[in-house]
Formats: sequence, structure tokens, C-alpha cells
Amino acid sequence: MLARTQVSNRIEPIRSVKGTQRVEAEAHRVFAAYHYGEVRTPILEETALFARGVGAETDIVMKEMYTFRDRDEESLTLRPEATASVVRAYIEHSLYNQGGAQKLYYIGPMFRRERPQKGRYRQFYQIGAEVLGPQNPLVDVEVLEMLVLFLERVGIREYQLLINSVGCPTCRAAYVKLLRQVLQDIKATMCADCQRRADTNPLRLLDCKVEADQPIIEKLPKIIDHLDPECRQHFDRVTSELQARGLLYQITPRLVRGLDYYTRTTFEITSGALGAQNAVVGGGRYDGLSEMLGGPPTPGIGFSIGQDRLILAVQAAALLQAGNPLAVYVVWMGEPTLPAASRLVRELRAQGLSVEIDYDPMKIKKAMGIANKLQARFAIIIGEGELASGKYQVKDMASGEQKELEPGAIAEYMKGKL
Ligand code: HAM
Repeated sequence: MLARTQVSNRIEPIRSVKGTQRVEAEAHRVFAAYHYGEVRTPILEETALFARGVGAETDIVMKEMYTFRDRDEESLTLRPEATASVVRAYIEHSLYNQGGAQKLYYIGPMFRRERPQKGRYRQFYQIGAEVLGPQNPLVDVEVLEMLVLFLERVGIREYQLLINSVGCPTCRAAYVKLLRQVLQDIKATMCADCQRRADTNPLRLLDCKVEADQPIIEKLPKIIDHLDPECRQHFDRVTSELQARGLLYQITPRLVRGLDYYTRTTFEITSGALGAQNAVVGGGRYDGLSEMLGGPPTPGIGFSIGQDRLILAVQAAALLQAGNPLAVYVVWMGEPTLPAASRLVRELRAQGLSVEIDYDPMKIKKAMGIANKLQARFAIIIGEGELASGKYQVKDMASGEQKELEPGAIAEYMKGKL
């Protein structure tokens, strides 16, 4: 029994239920406004779907999938992502016969055998959206606009939208050839992984995180300087329309993404709180994926938000509190006041007020800083003087007004104001 618990602890992220519900409710609302419909695809898929869709040579397929042989010897995989599954469903159910764009979104668990760390789990959740049909760059912009609206709605204020184009198979092949040539002369000075990738998959080398390689990578030719005229036009239209709509972005020539199905627009969103290496969102265009999976030619674009990382980012910004506003933050000064402070906290909570207290001693300035950060409506200050007089300081954090009240009168006073 113990062994089982340990296994499940290792693979299952600890999820904040409150954050999860709020974030998911917002996703349903925002995506509905853009006229997307929800889809649910299976968690188990044939392994070949990911080998063909995501790419047999990618890290995801080579190292990270949970794959097993079923009783009838069929190879099955716990989905590492859902875009390939959505396109499979699109083909299988002939959604292309319905005419117009198919706009679909999903929320659910994905599985990758990665080394667990903060924000990186073996079972994680994604909220994703995909548009199948249109090739118009304005659709790319609308997808990004919806994504940004959603992030802002859940309280993410600080984020960077990184954008690039990986071209089409034709112009990308020419760029990769050029990259290979340039690397021949300099790869010996790079890390072992880069030396290998210079031969096997030079695009992946642009992702290298090794410090010493960075100046070398910065000087390599950039894919956006080698796009063919159609891909270039598409990219320029996307960026000019983003500007027109007031959406901020950063062109990031090294952003090539770790999945093989991408064409043209690729993007990621990072959020200060999680660090640059942990993208909260990844996405892009995949105009050839339907054909790769045996379907009719169908352009596509979409994104997946890492829900666990999103919630970490929202919590880091201490903004989830907005769903449950804090009425009171209790500040106590000096060990002798702690029992009275704890008693008051218990009484106020019993009256249904939302109350926070820190049990570690701290200076008043720091404590008031926390009250501010938590956006508490009131702060109650209990120092040794207050303890002796039996009257506590109650500060209205909005107006700055301060009152001295007996503990028994505090709840009534607040309820009149909240
Ligand atoms: P991805 O970049 O592999 O893209 O994953 C998208 C997001 O999922 C990441 O930015 C991250 O937030 C989250 N994520 C990935 N792996 C983990 C993990 N081990 N633990 C926690 N979170 C993780 C895709 O999956 C594509 N399907 C995106 C897409 C949709 N492209 C077009 N449409």
C-alpha cells in the first residue's frame, strides 16, 4: 500500500482546487465568447499518432512518453499533448465536411516522463484551443488575442509573448541546410549536445541553455531572415495586426519549439514569476499536421496553457485572493500579545469573517506590508499597550481611518462596513 502511495505521489501534482476551478470557469467563458466548442479526446491513444504527429525524433516521443503494449500487442500511449488527438478526431469524424473553421478547446491531463520539479510534473493539465481550416494570419492574431484576454482575466498581469516564424517545410529546409553549413566550422567549440544536434537536428540546438554556447547561438543565421515570400508576408501581417490591436510581443528568432508539426507562426508566453525557462503557454501553426495524419490538407493553429504552471503564476501574484477577499489581517507586536491575537482571530473567523494572521514575530512595517499585499480590508494591531488598555487598533486599509475598539465590538463594526 505504501509503495502505491509513493508512486502516485511522485506522478501526481498537488493541485489547488480553488485556483483550478476559477481558471477553468474563466476558460469556458472566454472561449465561448470567441465561439469555440469543447472537445474531449481519449487519454489513451495509439502510439503511432504521436510518432507521426509530434515527430519520432522529438524529445517527447523519444524519451518522455508512457507507452505500453496492450493485451492484443497494440502499442498505446498516455497522451503527452492533445493537438495531435484533436486533429485525429477532426479527421475521424469528418469535421471538415461541416464547412467553415472548426474552433475547439479542451481541458485535461497530459503525461510526460520528465524530471519532476516546480512547475514540471509527469501528470500535468493543459487548457488548449485549436482552430482548423483557415490559413489567414488574422486568425493567428485572434487566437493570441483570446489567449491574452484569458490570461488577464485570471489575473496574470506580467507576461511576455514571444513570437517567431519557423516557415514552411520548403524554406525551413533551406535554412536548416545553411545552419548545418555554418555549424560545421564552429560546432567543435560548443557543448556535447550541440555537437550532436549540429548533425542530427540543428534547429534543436537553438534551444540550448548552456551558458557558454549563448554568444555563439546569438550569432547564427536567424530563420526569420530566411523565410520565403509567402511565409514572410504571413509573419509581417501577424506582427502588424498585433501592433494594431495593442498586443505587445517580442520577436524571438530562437523560438523553434519542441514539436515537429509547426509551420510559420510559433509562440510562447512566459511569466516573470516562473522564470524564462518555464513557459506557461506554447503554441503555433501546424498547416501540415492533418495531412501527416492521413487527413485532407487543413491548416491549423492553436495553443496549450500549462494549467499547473498558470496556477503557480497566479498564486505568485497573490491574485487568487480576489476570489475570496480578505477582511482582516491581524498584526501582533511582542510575544505576550500572541494569545490575545489568536483568540481574536478565532472569534472573528467564527463570525464568518475571512481573517489572516502570521505566527512568526515581525516588525510592524513588514506586517503592514503583508496586510497591503493581501489586500486586507482591515488591519487590527495589538501591541502591549493595546493589550493593557483592552482596546485594539482597527485600521480601515481603504480610507486609512483608525479606531480603537474593544475586541467584542470589532466584528459588529466590520460587518457594518464590509
Ligand atoms: P508544449 O509547449 O509542449 O506544447 O506544452 C504547452 C505547455 O504545457 C507548456 O508551455 C507548459 O506550460 C505545459 N507543460 C508541458 N510539459 C509540462 C510538464 N511536464 N509539467 C507541467 N506543465 C507542462 C504543446 O503541448 C502543444 N500541444 C501546444 C499547441 C497547441 N500547439 C498548437 N496547438
